[in-house]
Amino acid sequence: MQPLVAPPNPNVCLEAWQGDLTTLGVDAIVNAANNSLLGGGGVDGAIHRAAGPELLAFNRKLNGCATGAAKLTPGFDLKAPLIIHTVGPVWQGGQHNEAALLESCYREVIKIAAHEALSSIAFPAISCGVYGYPPEQAVEIAVKTVRAMLPVCPHLQRVVFCCFSDDMLALYQQKL
Ligand code: AR6
Repeated sequence: MQPLVAPPNPNVCLEAWQGDLTTLGVDAIVNAANNSLLGGGGVDGAIHRAAGPELLAFNRKLNGCATGAAKLTPGFDLKAPLIIHTVGPVWQGGQHNEAALLESCYREVIKIAAHEALSSIAFPAISCGVYGYPPEQAVEIAVKTVRAMLPVCPHLQRVVFCCFSDDMLALYQQKL
């Protein structure tokens, strides 16, 4: 008889790492984008700069992305061959479905990773910059949601939570 809940993938390693997401040689990096997918500041700006102008040209044809959803593109000039763009919620005090939307970002990204049979992926702290999500709550959602999704992603061996600041690194290390 099939178990109702698949056991988590025992080979997967979840790690916190401090540095620039655009330098990582993983199968896919995740972009904390906006609804237009046409670039912006923060990690989105860094990804567009590192990927080169072909990314913007490609994204113009994608018709944007809803908050909580995710879309796949090539990595162009990045070391990572793929980018999974997702749009986190803007923090508005916590009563505007922010937690469910942030959870959805991580879930939708992992679904694409599963579909593409990726073995490694790196996330930034989605919504924790310009979008103002309280980091502690966001980190809790990130780790919990990715862990819960591991059973659907049997090829995944490495998940990197990429942190820009010392404080963010400490939060992830505490939760992992
Ligand atoms: N590598 C890793 N992390 C980074 C990098 C980098 N190169 N640059 C910034 N971070 P943010 P959001 C961290 O603002 O809050 C853009 O304008 C940063 O310190 O990039 O989801 C988009 O176009 C923070 O912890 O994304 C949207 O309009 C985290 O990445 C909006 O910002 C996310 O900060 C999205 O806002």
